[in-house]
Amino acid sequence: MSKINDLNLKNWKEYQDIITDSLWIIGERDKSGAHRGDYHGNFIPQIPNQLMRRFTKKGDVILDTFLGSGTTLIECKRLGRNGIGIELLPQIAEIAKQRISQESLFDSNVFAEILVADSTKKETREKVYEILKSHNKQNVQLIIMHPPYHDIIKFSNRSDDLSNARSVKDFLKLFGDVVSNFLDLLERKHYLAVVIGDKYTNSEWVPLGFMTMQEVLNRDGLILKSILVKNMVNNRAKRNQEHLWRYRALVGGFYIFRHEYILLFQKR
Ligand SMILES: C[S@@+](CC[C@H](N)C(=O)[O-])C[C@H]1O[C@@H](n2cnc3c(N)ncnc32)[C@H](O)[C@@H]1O
Repeated sequence: MSKINDLNLKNWKEYQDIITDSLWIIGERDKSGAHRGDYHGNFIPQIPNQLMRRFTKKGDVILDTFLGSGTTLIECKRLGRNGIGIELLPQIAEIAKQRISQESLFDSNVFAEILVADSTKKETREKVYEILKSHNKQNVQLIIMHPPYHDIIKFSNRSDDLSNARSVKDFLKLFGDVVSNFLDLLERKHYLAVVIGDKYTNSEWVPLGFMTMQEVLNRDGLILKSILVKNMVNNRAKRNQEHLWRYRALVGGFYIFRHEYILLFQKR
């Protein structure tokens, strides 16, 4: 099997911090360097960090189709990987750009490209391809997708924002369009990671994690490699309401979300 990372497995015992279990309990968010952690809806930098170290090599290209505040591209810069990030909202893309340029730990040989665009659109795929070509690259070695968890956080009022999809069905359709759009740019044997949580609406648990997983598997060419369950730490607002939520859970007969998923697929 050809290697897809830079780990030297002769010394595998030295990689104590590389996670190999499906249950990810991560303590403190990494707030070093340009990481701020203040964008409502961002993920912790440890997620792209772990994925890149296991599934890419230095000089590879990582595509993040829902860039947000730029967490993935900051990690790319630190780890010597090239990054392409797509974000729909110009003001958020601008914040990402500033942060990425502020990151002081970096490898100057890599590029970080941000595209302000709608990831569901065919022309966005063409623009990504143009970027790759301009750097003499053909394809990408890891795709990370951290979409809105449907309407849990509204990122804007725009109709092309996945957080404004009218129904779960519409949300899944748009998410599926993004997967279809970029699948052919992923190199064979390489990985797609989807980071997503479930939601609770009208007294009903809506398993967005499993639904998006099925949406990916409905497309030919990808196999499921792992379902990772990661602990979710409440934001400050919710933390102050712990008692209230516990009471609601006891009354309503449900459990409070403490986890989200990292779904890992490999291209055949
Ligand atoms: C969950 S956040 C990603 C956060 C990111 N991982 C971070 O650490 O900052 C989802 C992002 O997707 C963006 N988005 C929503 N619809 C989109 C679309 N059609 N194309 C591209 N980006 C979109 C939102 O504006 C939001 O910034």
